[in-house]
Amino acid sequence: MVGWLEKLKVLLKMAKTNRRFNQDVSLKEFVRRTFLMYPFFSKEKIVKHNDEYVFSTFMPPFPSKAFDNMLIATKTTIDFLKGTAPMPVPISVYFSLTNKCMCNCYFCSNALNTGQELETRDTIEVIKQLQDFGVSIIGFTGGEPLLRKDLAQIIASVDERSATLLFTTGIGFTKDVARSLKDAGLFSIVVSLDHYRKEEHNRIKGHSKAFDSALAAIDYSNKVGLYVTTNTIPSIEMIRNGDIWEFLHFAESIGVDEVRILDPIPTGAMLGKPIFTEEDIALLKKLHVESNRRKDIPRVSVLSYFEGREITGCGAGGIRHMYVDASGNLHPCDMVPLSFGNILEDGLINCMERMAKAFPLPHEECFMRRYSKEVADFMKSNDTKDIEKIISFCSSLKDERLSKFFERMM
Ligand SMILES: C[S@@+](CC[C@H](N)C(=O)[O-])C[C@H]1O[C@@H](n2cnc3c(N)ncnc32)[C@H](O)[C@@H]1O
Ligand code: SF4
Repeated sequence: MVGWLEKLKVLLKMAKTNRRFNQDVSLKEFVRRTFLMYPFFSKEKIVKHNDEYVFSTFMPPFPSKAFDNMLIATKTTIDFLKGTAPMPVPISVYFSLTNKCMCNCYFCSNALNTGQELETRDTIEVIKQLQDFGVSIIGFTGGEPLLRKDLAQIIASVDERSATLLFTTGIGFTKDVARSLKDAGLFSIVVSLDHYRKEEHNRIKGHSKAFDSALAAIDYSNKVGLYVTTNTIPSIEMIRNGDIWEFLHFAESIGVDEVRILDPIPTGAMLGKPIFTEEDIALLKKLHVESNRRKDIPRVSVLSYFEGREITGCGAGGIRHMYVDASGNLHPCDMVPLSFGNILEDGLINCMERMAKAFPLPHEECFMRRYSKEVADFMKSNDTKDIEKIISFCSSLKDERLSKFFERMM
């Protein structure tokens, strides 16, 4: 964790970089916007990793070509919201490499995806289209992406315009895999770790080796210099009784740089069946702020905090995020089981144009947390291949307000 003076210097350098991409805005207006943004960043813990600074795995590390791309993407998205750009450019895209998996999580967001996975050549073609479009983070997910024999080749095909993440259980991750993925240019491994107790994590994943594999993957990744993150879906009890703090201390003790905390979004295996209440989400948001004040635990990134109205809101639909499933179909997010076409058959731009009609504005909070029941009903009574119907359904689900970030930027 960097001290306040170093943090201030980093923030100033970031503002200077941002100015390079906002020459069309008057200096006075640029300074005003930068001051409005300051409260969003000043409360965040920054991790120094190798020679780069990491705010969270929701942003590329700074300084980097990928970080510059994120600034350009954000500007294009704001222009789109103002009506002066035809499409937004999202910061991140998560790309599923397979639907196969040896686990059986009760919350699995991928449970409804069953299509054929792409060949190596087609996977690399999709990556090229995404990079040319300007995405600055590519997260490889699944199923279990370690089941792909060509994983290192796929990661190596991503050039410096984007930072890469690998979402994995760690099952099948060895010392040699760690080295080959680091050499391929991987930025961060994001290991699923839902509990600090072995039996509990194994029970959630439905696999007797899940916990030991996750810990080994964290250890090997640290040794080769990957930025080590966990994706953690705590139980309601952990959040209500404060046991999550025990988890955060455990994560620190095993060398985790960042803990991403997600509530189980009602999608996939849980479509239409939410578990967390609004009060639980409020506890998670409080946890984000309180935990990032402390030096004795890793950086904490609570998705519902960032995606709440107080910060950016939900950027699904290409505003800030989108998802490509294992067959190459474009979705608004890994949590939204609706597709706007196949990138290889229809072309990325075409799919993006359709999605921009369906998601013309960011949502105030997670689209699937709010509209899971509506999506489940829509999928029961409609042809989910009818893209015009999907566009009119999604665009009818409007929220009242913009998030504070977009309010201030507009
Ligand atoms: C779909 S999994 C694929 C990668 C790998 N199988 C794993 O579980 O790490 C990617 C990440 O999404 C998270 N995830 C899955 N379903 C979710 C849901 N309904 N809500 C929030 N996160 C979810 C998992 O915990 C995991 O960290
Ligand atoms: S969340 Fe990951 S590990 Fe769990 S079943 Fe889904 S793909 Fe497998």
